[in-house]
Amino acid sequence: MSGHGTPVPMTSHPVTGLTGTAEVPGDKSISHRSLIFGAMAVGETRVTGLLEGDDVLDTAKAMRAFGAEVTRDEDGTWHIHGVGVGGFAEPDQVIDCGNSGTGVRLIMGAAATCPISVTYTGDASLTKRPMARVTDPLALFGTQAVGRSGGRLPMTLVGAADPVPVRYTVPVPSAQVKSAVLLAGLNAPGKTVVIEQEATRDHTERMLAGFGAEITVEDTDEGRVITLTGQPELQPQVIAVPRDPSSAAFPVCAALITPGSDVLVPGIGLNPTRAGLYTTLREMGADLSYENMREEGGEPVADLRARFSPDMKGIEVPPERAASMIDEYPILSVVASHASGVTMMRGVKELRVKESDRIDAMATGLRANGIAVDEGEDWWSVHGEGPGGMAGGATVQSHLDHRIAMSFMVAGMASKAPIKVDDGSPITTSFPIFEPLMTALGAELRTR
Ligand code: S3P
Repeated sequence: MSGHGTPVPMTSHPVTGLTGTAEVPGDKSISHRSLIFGAMAVGETRVTGLLEGDDVLDTAKAMRAFGAEVTRDEDGTWHIHGVGVGGFAEPDQVIDCGNSGTGVRLIMGAAATCPISVTYTGDASLTKRPMARVTDPLALFGTQAVGRSGGRLPMTLVGAADPVPVRYTVPVPSAQVKSAVLLAGLNAPGKTVVIEQEATRDHTERMLAGFGAEITVEDTDEGRVITLTGQPELQPQVIAVPRDPSSAAFPVCAALITPGSDVLVPGIGLNPTRAGLYTTLREMGADLSYENMREEGGEPVADLRARFSPDMKGIEVPPERAASMIDEYPILSVVASHASGVTMMRGVKELRVKESDRIDAMATGLRANGIAVDEGEDWWSVHGEGPGGMAGGATVQSHLDHRIAMSFMVAGMASKAPIKVDDGSPITTSFPIFEPLMTALGAELRTR
C-alpha cells in the first residue's frame, strides 16, 4: 500500500524530444472487476494483463480474505477460484483497501448481501472519502453500516441475511456507486434496477453480461436504466485486460507539450465512457491520431500517436463529457497551461472527493509554478501561457494522490525550471512502471 511509508520526493527536469513506444499497464477499473467478479463465479477465472498496482493487489488480498483462491503464475497470469454469488466467508481481519475508493466501494457492494460482518479501512486519503454514497443505497437491501462521523472509514457493514432487490437512482455521476448497488443486487432475489442520469463507465454492465448474468440497459427519459436479475450462477471467464486509457494519458500529454516529441501508445481501449480526454485534446488542436483502429473483447481499441503540438487552444470542455474523463482533468490542466487562451472545465464537483480534492491540489500546484487558475465549487479554469510557458521551479504536494504526482511530473518535462513533488510514492497505486516508462521515452525523473 502507498502512503504508509516514507515520502519519496521526486523531481522532473525539462527535456526535449520524448520518443518511442509506451506500453502502459492494464486498466485499473477492469482489473478490480476481474478479481471481484472472478471471486463471485464458480470455477477458475484466468486473467492476463492485470494491473499489478497497489490498489488492485489490495483487492486481490481482500478476495482471498473472503475465501476465494487467488494466485499468480510466474508469467503474470492470474487465477481466481471463486466461491459463487453469496458465497463470501466472513474475513478474520479488517479489510484494508489502501488508497482505493474503487476497491472498497465495489467490495462493500459485493459483500453487502452476504450474511457476514466486515470491517473496512484504508490509508490517510481513503479514510477521508465519503462512503455514505454507497452505504445509503446498500441499506435499502437490508445492510447495516456503522462508521466514523461523516460516513467515513473505518466502517463495519453487517450484510443482509434476507436481502430484497432495490430500485435506485444514483444521485451523483459515479460508476463506483452504480457498481456497488449492482454487485449487492447479484445476491438479492428478483430484479435490482439502477438508474443513472449521466452515463458513467460501463465496465460492470459489460463484464457482468460476459460472466453470464442477466442484465439489460435501456436509455429512457428517466436516464440509463440498468436491470439485473439476482442470484445467477456466474460463469468463470478468460479475461485479457486492455491497457488503461487513464494511464495512457500521461505519456500522450507529455508528448503533446514537450518540443520534438513523437510517442506511440499502443493498444488503448477507447470505450466512449472512458475516452473523453482524447476527444477534448483533439478539439484543442492536439496532433493526436488513432492508428490501427480495431475491436478487442467487444471494445474499440487503437494505437495512440501523439506529437508535440505547439498550436493548442484553450476550449470550454462540455460538462456532459465530465464522467468520461473524470480522472483526466488533472493532466488536462497541465496541457491547458501550454495552450493559448483559457480552458474552462465545468460540472466537475466530483473532483473534490477523489484521492484528494483534485481541483484544489492542481490549482495550488499550478499557481506555484506560474499558471493562473480560477475555481468555484464545481468548475475551474486554467489560463494557458502557450507552449513552454510554464515557469516551474516549485515543489508541489501530491496529497497521497497518484494522478496529482504524475501530472506534475509531466508538467516538469516541459516547464522552464524543474518541478518537484513532495511524495511520488502514490504513483505505484495505478502506474507502477511510470518512472522507467517515462525515462525510456527521454524524461529525466530523479528521486531523492
Ligand atoms: C472508477 C470510477 C470513478 C473513477 C475511479 C474508477 C471505477 O470513480 O474516478 O478512478 O472503476 O468504477 P467514481 O465512481 O467515484 O466517479
